[in-house]
Amino acid sequence: MLETQRLVLRGFQEKDWKDLYEYLSLESVVRYEPYNPFTEEEAKRETSRRVRDESFWAVCLKDSGKLIGNLYFRQVEPEEFMEWELGFVFNPAYHGKGYATESCKKIIEYGLGDLGVRRVVSMCNPENLSSWRLLERLGMRREGHFLKNIYFKRDRDGSPIWQDTYQYALLNPIK
Ligand SMILES: CC(C)(COP(=O)(O)OP(=O)(O)OC[C@H]1O[C@@H](n2cnc3c(N)ncnc32)[C@H](O)[C@@H]1OP(=O)(O)O)[C@@H](O)C(=O)NCCC(=O)NCCS
Repeated sequence: MLETQRLVLRGFQEKDWKDLYEYLSLESVVRYEPYNPFTEEEAKRETSRRVRDESFWAVCLKDSGKLIGNLYFRQVEPEEFMEWELGFVFNPAYHGKGYATESCKKIIEYGLGDLGVRRVVSMCNPENLSSWRLLERLGMRREGHFLKNIYFKRDRDGSPIWQDTYQYALLNPIK
């Protein structure tokens, strides 16, 4: 468990499914994610999966305990490169308050310090302005712009919707 001034970062618990459903059921939230809006059943299954997956961190308000978003922080192979990927999805009711910045800063600090991470990397769609603005607030550097390198969704005719990717990264200054 990690703590900041306003937030607690912890592993997922089964009871979190309702809070997770509250934002993963929204089209606006999953627009740039590799999945579609969740049903209640899918949110329950996804919560159970996350309970067993240490890469997912629930971000909760310290005062009320409400889960307002989640981080993803996972080591990328090969292991000896000591590189971790960072991801984030927050409930829009809690956007614009600095919660994503506050929690990401903490997990990066934990990674660089406690875990000995050498490089943190994060990917986003260039159209996802709030995402790459967050990455820049975190002091990450845009290291790549890949053109139509990936697709998560298909159009009505079943053709892939190719999209660009920005890659951001940050190096541990003492590694
Ligand atoms: C990406 C995402 C997490 C960014 O959320 P966010 O609310 O913009 O980010 P923060 O919580 O750090 O808030 C920053 C904003 O709060 C403001 N703010 C208010 N109080 C603040 C504080 N104490 N500290 C920092 N910023 C603060 C900042 O000025 C900034 O406002 P601005 O966007 O008008 O410049 C959010 O848009 C999201 O969940 N999107 C959907 C999922 C998604 O696309 N994920 C990324 C896939 S790659």
